[in-house]
Amino acid sequence: MTTASTHTLSVERIERLDDGDLADLCEATDAAIIEGGGFGWIDPQGREALARHFRGVLLVPACELFLAKLDGVPVGSAQLLRPPRNNEAQSFGAQLTHAYIAPYARGHGLARLLVRRVEERASALGHRVLNLDVRDTQTTAITLFESLGYIRWGTHPAYARVRGATVSGHYYYKLLEPMRGRAIDISAPTEKG
Ligand SMILES: CC(C)(COP(=O)(O)OP(=O)(O)OC[C@H]1O[C@@H](n2cnc3c(N)ncnc32)[C@H](O)[C@@H]1OP(=O)(O)O)[C@@H](O)C(=O)NCCC(=O)NCCS
Repeated sequence: MTTASTHTLSVERIERLDDGDLADLCEATDAAIIEGGGFGWIDPQGREALARHFRGVLLVPACELFLAKLDGVPVGSAQLLRPPRNNEAQSFGAQLTHAYIAPYARGHGLARLLVRRVEERASALGHRVLNLDVRDTQTTAITLFESLGYIRWGTHPAYARVRGATVSGHYYYKLLEPMRGRAIDISAPTEKG
């Protein structure tokens, strides 16, 4: 559970990473992977592979990277994935992926702030739905997402394979408040689909 924090929490959407922040982010990422959660990777990747990954993320136009900092030091991140331009019918939705906080920085409320910042950005970009999915074994993340109002709409029984075991996963969505412009009614599907 989150304790009353005397630390400084911040979340920034970043378009470039200096060497110091990149090194801290790679360390935080490997620490989260070793602890067994998030990011899809099962084994630690090492600094070089992770640095290549994050530099690549920054080059993908459909992907935005959010950096979570504890007392000014990067300790986690999340990505906002926007739909491709040809997918006009689903352009109202976006995806929150790869959210994690390093084990040594947990319990201060950073993940809650991280998810909120991603939601605000998605909303500001005009998205009205944020989708995410999570392994059944990520119980802290499930508690977090459900407390933030994410609605589980399905479970995939064969969602992931982790060390030889098949793990189920849950799919969630949340309707976002419009930040500007006119609200659209997405409560009921139309017959035209
Ligand atoms: C899930 C995760 C991001 C939470 O990070 P965190 O910074 O410690 O979370 P916060 O301090 O912001 O806590 C947010 C909420 O999560 C839940 N939570 C946090 N720690 C918890 C714990 N030890 N037990 C149960 N619930 C917990 C609570 O609902 C908490 O809110 P509250 O304190 O107001 O009750 C972190 O544990 C993590 O990186 N896990 C592995 C990766 C992962 O599962 N990612 C999500 C999949 S995409």
